[in-house]
Amino acid sequence: MPVETPRSKIADPNIAVDLLAHYDVHARTLPWRAQPGANATDPYRVWLSEVMLQQTTVAAVRPYFEAFTQRWPSVESLAAAPDADVMAAWAGLGYYARARNLLACARAVAGEHGGVFPDTEEGLRALPGVGVYTAAAVAAIAFGRRAVVVDANVERVVARLFAITTPMPAARTEIRAATETITPDARAGDFAQAMMDLGATICTVRAPACGICPLRLDCAAVRTADPAAFPVKAPKKVRPHRLGHGWWMERDGKLWLIRRPDKGLLGGMRALPSSDWSATPDAAPPLSADWRTVDQPISHIFTHFALALTVHHAHLDGSADPAGEGEWWPIDRLGDAGLPTLFRRAADAVIADRKG
Ligand code: ADE
Repeated sequence: MPVETPRSKIADPNIAVDLLAHYDVHARTLPWRAQPGANATDPYRVWLSEVMLQQTTVAAVRPYFEAFTQRWPSVESLAAAPDADVMAAWAGLGYYARARNLLACARAVAGEHGGVFPDTEEGLRALPGVGVYTAAAVAAIAFGRRAVVVDANVERVVARLFAITTPMPAARTEIRAATETITPDARAGDFAQAMMDLGATICTVRAPACGICPLRLDCAAVRTADPAAFPVKAPKKVRPHRLGHGWWMERDGKLWLIRRPDKGLLGGMRALPSSDWSATPDAAPPLSADWRTVDQPISHIFTHFALALTVHHAHLDGSADPAGEGEWWPIDRLGDAGLPTLFRRAADAVIADRKG
């Protein structure tokens, strides 16, 4: 007697067919995207959008993508841009290591590949900052290659389609294997984007709209009591809390800004001078002055910890600059300094405190 393969382990061709038919009608119109079924689109735009979209929503990325592609329409033009311009244009998108990798990658493509992106996953993986996800996404979307593309949306959709009960993150291997079984040979790029759209619009984290889902007949989770319970979460780790002090020093309408070291959090970004960020940060001001302290510390969530930054401000008199490297930046042009969100918020808090 032949042993029957459980239905959930069969590579189900209906899934891709059903999903692509839905995508042909409902694909979101996004500035980096070709029409469904259209031939490959500009790899530079695909790569740039995929780097921006990691850890960031489509809504947040849209204006940055438009601004970057207007200012730097090709990989060569981006490669030729000064680091400081790119870092400043990236300000507000977060995860700043991505911007440094973006530049390193653009320069590798321009310098070592004649401005032409490699067209295989393997070739793409060899570029600086291009990981498994980005290589697969670019290979599929820009070059029409069959590649297994798994981002957080796809992870959720697949965990539900197959009702995978292993908790995250251990479930990742199973999810990747399951995604492999449903990825079609043709239109893998459209398939990947259709999965992402489904995750963003129908198979959402909370309250998925199973009633209008094109995959409801293929889905194992919809037949359970609580489809939203997939992917199964591991027990939550608490994010450690850290404290820090930030120092606003101004003179003659200008603010003292430093550039953070390239390596580490917010690396290469302009910033207020600040203490270490720890349980017991050094609260000593960088110089003696008539310091005032903003009442409410700035709370900011980083991936691995939550920071409460206490912000102090003072007018400096005398002509000596604060110790170390830095620059005087006009306060009325602070919007052009490319401050990351934490320091932008700290600056706004000081400006409000000075008025009060
Ligand atoms: N998220 C990451 N990449 C995406 C894409 N190409 N389309 C929609 N959402 C995405």
